[in-house]
Amino acid sequence: MTAKVERRLAKVMKNKEYFSCIQDLIESDPVKLMDTFIQHGHTTTLEHCINVSYLSYKVAKFFKLDYKSAARAGLLHDMFLYDWHKQPKDDRFLDQHGFSHPKKALNNALKYFELNNKEKDIIEKHMWPLTLRKVPKYKESFLVSFIDKYTSSCETVVPVAQKAGNYALLLITIFQGVFH
Ligand SMILES: [Fe+2]
Ligand SMILES: [Fe+2]
Repeated sequence: MTAKVERRLAKVMKNKEYFSCIQDLIESDPVKLMDTFIQHGHTTTLEHCINVSYLSYKVAKFFKLDYKSAARAGLLHDMFLYDWHKQPKDDRFLDQHGFSHPKKALNNALKYFELNNKEKDIIEKHMWPLTLRKVPKYKESFLVSFIDKYTSSCETVVPVAQKAGNYALLLITIFQGVFH
């Protein structure tokens, strides 16, 4: 695993209850393989899935929902196992990554793990409302779908904002140097 993911994992693993929910998954090779693909910016798919899984666990627990299914399916929701940036552009519209990857992630997850119906629903419908007719069936599915969007936005926006902040700082330093 990358050092960044090791650090993130060490942090969330301090929560023993959370770790017991996902231990068998996180120690498996197919889940570790997600750390070799970039999801957004500098975030690998595994780091993204850990972020979604942990926040889903926390929020589901707060609202007294099935936090174990939310944590497990959150970790597997993007286990499509390829670099989506290198997808062929001539795919049919509905075969594009945004529409097709939930089903691929579900098929991969079913290949390696036993899932309950709620976990299957969470993974298959996490892109709703983009996937119009695949409406989530459970509260946990809506929750993970929302947290996925929130987390993806943070992972995409924060590095850009940091970069912009660094440029602003550099400009201010140059400005101060010239006009002091
Ligand atoms: Fe996804
Ligand atoms: Fe995701």
